[in-house]
Amino acid sequence: MLADVVVDLQYGDCGKGKITNYLCSIEDYTHVIRYNGGCNAGHTIYHEGKKIVTHHIPCGVLHGIRSVIGPGCVLNVNQFFKEIDELEEAGINTKGLIKIASNVNIITDFHIAEDKKDTEIGTTKRGNGPAYRDKYGRKGVLARDVGMLEEYIIDMYTELHENEEFEEVKILFEGAQGFGLDIDWGDYPYVTSSHCTVGSAVLNGVPPSSIRRVWGVAKVYETYVGAKDFHGIEPELNLIREVGEEYGATTGRPRQVNWLDLDLIKKAVNINGVDTVVFNKTDVLDEVKTWMLYDGINAFHFDSGEDMNYYIQDYINKFKPETEVLFSGNKEII
Ligand code: IMP
Ligand code: MG
Repeated sequence: MLADVVVDLQYGDCGKGKITNYLCSIEDYTHVIRYNGGCNAGHTIYHEGKKIVTHHIPCGVLHGIRSVIGPGCVLNVNQFFKEIDELEEAGINTKGLIKIASNVNIITDFHIAEDKKDTEIGTTKRGNGPAYRDKYGRKGVLARDVGMLEEYIIDMYTELHENEEFEEVKILFEGAQGFGLDIDWGDYPYVTSSHCTVGSAVLNGVPPSSIRRVWGVAKVYETYVGAKDFHGIEPELNLIREVGEEYGATTGRPRQVNWLDLDLIKKAVNINGVDTVVFNKTDVLDEVKTWMLYDGINAFHFDSGEDMNYYIQDYINKFKPETEVLFSGNKEII
């Protein structure tokens, strides 16, 4: 067994879908597994010229790869069926490919109604927090007890460890949200209710030793959606929002924007043991013609994207020399 993991190093929305999609097209994975979160996540993928947004279903399905909603996730049943319909309408065959771990916890109408009242965290109001609370309170409803889901249900242990269909199980773990939203490592309480690190992938049924490569995804600036004050003061940040189309894939909310914070990247790279970092959306700063970042409390300005990339590369090489650092425009493959 081996597993690669895609994690977000900032606050979500950094382009995990793009990297997952790319890896699925070059590697022969047997499974793509979502390991945390619910339909608070929105994964935007450009596939054969079409824009597809999924919330629950991993993008392996676009490549004919078995796509699993792992036990670390919470699931909204209506949303799940809606996504299947949308994928089928877009001409993607999902038959027999989508699986749900039997012990996934269900997001109920009650959870959603409760989350709708949130004003303090700025949640996506998808019932995520209440569903995880009930999971850990041991009051949850499990996917295996929902009749409508029967044909999708798998036993995760058998699927991964006693699967005779595949010579070797090769997994791509597709994370949701990001390091800055992680329940333990993010800026509590302005966090989500699940774990958004590599550790969380491991909790979905594989030994730590199976992890082959960790892909960390970031943007060359930061965005965040939620109740805390995050947006920086420079007017260019508003331009970045427009040029980068920084509006939530799930809720349509304008994302708050700030400059890249290298301290956050460093923590996220170290804690996740990232092997390759991809910095996305370099073309957005190029269009706005402003290149700036924070290294500690100091702001640095650059004359070009190349200069800024060089600084970032050097910064990462100083604390973790073996890390591969890539820079990518929004619609570039990598
Ligand atoms: P919740 O996960 O809906 O409870 O929201 C908690 C915090 O995480 C809020 O600030 C949300 O905006 C943020 N959040 C949750 N999921 C995502 C995501 O997929 N992308 C970006 N932010 C997210
Ligand atoms: Mg997203």
